[in-house]
Amino acid sequence: SEVKKIAVIAGDGIGPEVVAEAEKVLKVTEEVFGYKFETEHALFGGIAIDEKGTPLPTETLDICKSADAVLLGAVGGPKWDTNPKELRPETGLLGIRKALGLFSNLRPAVVFDCLKDASTLKPEVLEGTDLIVVRELTGGIYFGEKFRRQSEQGEEAVDTCAYNVTEVERIARQAFEIAAKRRGKLASVDKANVLETSRLWREVVIRVSADYPNVELEHVLVDNCAMQLLRRPSSFDVIVTENMFGDILSDEAAMLTGSIGMLASASLGEGSYGLYEPVHGSAPDIAGQGLANPIATILSLALMFRMTFGYEDAAAAIEAAVAQVLDAGHRTSDIAVDKSKAISTSEMGDLIVAAIRK
Ligand code: NAD
Ligand code: IPM
Ligand code: MN
Repeated sequence: SEVKKIAVIAGDGIGPEVVAEAEKVLKVTEEVFGYKFETEHALFGGIAIDEKGTPLPTETLDICKSADAVLLGAVGGPKWDTNPKELRPETGLLGIRKALGLFSNLRPAVVFDCLKDASTLKPEVLEGTDLIVVRELTGGIYFGEKFRRQSEQGEEAVDTCAYNVTEVERIARQAFEIAAKRRGKLASVDKANVLETSRLWREVVIRVSADYPNVELEHVLVDNCAMQLLRRPSSFDVIVTENMFGDILSDEAAMLTGSIGMLASASLGEGSYGLYEPVHGSAPDIAGQGLANPIATILSLALMFRMTFGYEDAAAAIEAAVAQVLDAGHRTSDIAVDKSKAISTSEMGDLIVAAIRK
């Protein structure tokens, strides 16, 4: 079959550790399903600042553009935290999303039955939770003008938040499409009682909803949504929201699943091209110790197979292997109840590989 090109950007902290496990899974799916992949590694984030003087080298962007999909670990760390904006790993992350036109970030939060004990919430509250956050990824306050100025009370910082109709419409449409294929429920999350961008957001979402009569739409204010996610998580199906609200709510949703180390994501534009990365960051507190949970990254690879390549068999096999390994009681320390029995990053990767091979 045809060879698919994957750009691999491991990044910083636990990024290289979790990406290495996803690459093992990539290899075994070639063996088992006969697919052919060609990977090309590229520097990105803090390590790219150190080696190339910029978080997103032109060469890295070119490698991503010439690939069929991108697999990304995580970027950032204390070493670069006081750098000016252009020399921050996170600026590279925003830059790559923008440059590749990836306006839609899908973050599914599914509670594996056997992991109900790993969450800080009560099992009966989590029962049946299966939601997806559709986060707008290339607009809003992340990309608005930012500056400092002198005010009468001393130095002042400004971040501007802007959304135009086109930006809201395309993410709303994606969310309705996704909801129509799921349980037909869409919660649009905003702060329309205060923010002008949210009032426009709500108007546009209502307009788009006319094309999706079978999707039940509710509007939820973001503060209430943060609360309802913990009170009645299983009642959510699809949540669509702006960039910053989606960032915050998806980390909250991660705890429904037991750990941020479980949450995968897909970042898409208009076509099938996509960038796939775990929702979590570079976790400097546990980096280099083999403690990171690689499942979020491995499940991100499964999303790549499904959404960019249409390799549903391989995607489903990866997801089934993860479920099987968890069902057998294997846990990295973030999801272990008995931490003394926790396994390492690479042991978890190896078990998932073995389960796919069987
Ligand atoms: P983080 O997600 O890196 O870590 C938060 C907590 O979760 C930490 O205690 C960490 O140990 C734990 N954790 C995260 N991933 C884990 C995994 N796979 N297995 C087990 N435990 C895991 O968030 P943070 O600490 O706020 O940020 C650290 C750095 O990462 C910052 O520089 C931040 O900017 C960056 N960051 C990058 C991305 C990205 O690359 N997409 C996302 C979020 C944060
Ligand atoms: C994420 C991260 C990034 C974001 C940061 C590191 C810029 O938190 O991918 O969720 O806020 O988008
Ligand atoms: Mn985040």
